[in-house]
Amino acid sequence: MLTLGLNSKPKLSHETFCYLRDIVYAQSGIAFADTKKYLLETRLLRRLEEKNLKTFEDYYYFLTYDQGREAEYRHLLNSVVTNETSFFRDPVQLEVFRKGVIPRLLEEKYRTGSKSVRIWSSACSTGEEPYTLAMMLMEEGLVQKGFTIEIIGSDISDVVLKAAVAARYDRYSLRNTPEAYLRKYFTPCADAFTVSPRVMETVKFRNVNLFNAGETRAVRNMDIVFCRNVLIYFDETSKRKVCSHIYDTISKGGYLLVGFSESLHNITRLFNPISIERSVVYQKS
Ligand SMILES: C[S@@+](CC[C@H](N)C(=O)[O-])C[C@H]1O[C@@H](n2cnc3c(N)ncnc32)[C@H](O)[C@@H]1O
Repeated sequence: MLTLGLNSKPKLSHETFCYLRDIVYAQSGIAFADTKKYLLETRLLRRLEEKNLKTFEDYYYFLTYDQGREAEYRHLLNSVVTNETSFFRDPVQLEVFRKGVIPRLLEEKYRTGSKSVRIWSSACSTGEEPYTLAMMLMEEGLVQKGFTIEIIGSDISDVVLKAAVAARYDRYSLRNTPEAYLRKYFTPCADAFTVSPRVMETVKFRNVNLFNAGETRAVRNMDIVFCRNVLIYFDETSKRKVCSHIYDTISKGGYLLVGFSESLHNITRLFNPISIERSVVYQKS
């Protein structure tokens, strides 16, 4: 089995790639196609170095037979996920949320006399998405209208959640943030910006693996779930599984928003697609 290249960097053989990607898939639903071997190789290389392992085969054996393998799964997933995000990502879709989804939700809340709004940012990475939503709801005056806002931000990766809790961001994360929001909801500190305490208080973070029914079961009665820019990493089987887990977390009449380039077409008929301003949002009937 080929393990060492000329420059002694470990090389990932196709066979070991298949073994490792199967572990990643079983743990998270994330599917690495054959064409993405280089990606898994690059991302796991650092973990090999951290663990002082010489070959990918050594790492595979560790993940398969070592007593510490369960704990290592977390590191494995931290290493392989794509965490790209930013404040006010996909502004067109956020406008649909603001102008289309919130008014519909509030109408229903007034009708039923409920005063709580619960939102789940279900693959929140370093926290920009749930904080953006919190700020938008504050701008819409929900607090003044007597609503309590609860936002859960969750992710499979502990590393990103730690950054989310710290709530300190550089200019690049804020590149799409309107100036008025920047002034109102952030405090500049050195070369970064910290999210204001009232926004931080609105968002609670926790680790939830969307692929794991036991973990998503802890989330319930959500009015709106954001699951943006993560379905693209799943295959159809894991998309179906994740969508059914999410379905169970949403209250009747609640909404699911997936990423701009993502669709539930051919994945699930559990939700009713509603077209709002050329965007599709999904409603649980
Ligand atoms: C590209 S980021 C998207 C962040 C944000 N939703 C956005 O649209 O900007 C994808 C996130 O999904 C997370 N993720 C991947 N698989 C997951 C799973 N099975 N359960 C929960 N989160 C997962 C990754 O850790 C990563 O932080």
